[in-house]
Amino acid sequence: MQRIRLHDKDFFVSISNEEIKKKVKVLADRINYDYSEKPVPLFVCILNGAFMFAAELLQSINFDCEITFVKLASYNGINSENTVNELIGLNNNTKGRDIIVVEDIVDSGNTLVKIDQILAEKGARSIEYATLFFKPETYKKDIVVKYYAMELLKNFIVGFGLDYNQLGRNLKDIYEVLPENKE
Ligand code: IMP
Ligand code: MG
Repeated sequence: MQRIRLHDKDFFVSISNEEIKKKVKVLADRINYDYSEKPVPLFVCILNGAFMFAAELLQSINFDCEITFVKLASYNGINSENTVNELIGLNNNTKGRDIIVVEDIVDSGNTLVKIDQILAEKGARSIEYATLFFKPETYKKDIVVKYYAMELLKNFIVGFGLDYNQLGRNLKDIYEVLPENKE
């Protein structure tokens, strides 16, 4: 079993790069089918985590599209209870567009809700979510996550863009944290 250590935790390989690529291809084919008739959809990749997934996914997208890379920033508004969320780098025209948000992993869904609130105000014709991983057991929001490549249980993972305190994003396979009680 291939193991690595990041900061204070040990991880083992759980999903190979070949497997990830197969799952992403299946997802890309679904998106190709659903969007083939739509005029130049816009992919919005959420940095940092989704950079590798976006690169893999977009290579298999076969319709004319735009892709942009954004960061979600949250800061306190005029009164400190009001958190203001912003997508830094979203300069594309969004009016009347079909948008596909590209995320690394949807866990509680809190991040997704923030992104959805921002995009909903920008006049898009449609907004869908494509994520590499979806955790159905921890997701508690109403927004439908239409496109996900793989389902995960509660396990914490790294690799293929996902990090543990900023380490592990460069790994080509997915690694899962070793349960604390096992040596
Ligand atoms: P949510 O807002 O709870 O849905 O979490 C979304 C964000 O948490 C993701 O974009 C990741 O950055 C991070 N995250 C959640 N689960 C994991 C994991 O298992 N590994 C690495 N990052 C994770
Ligand atoms: Mg992320």
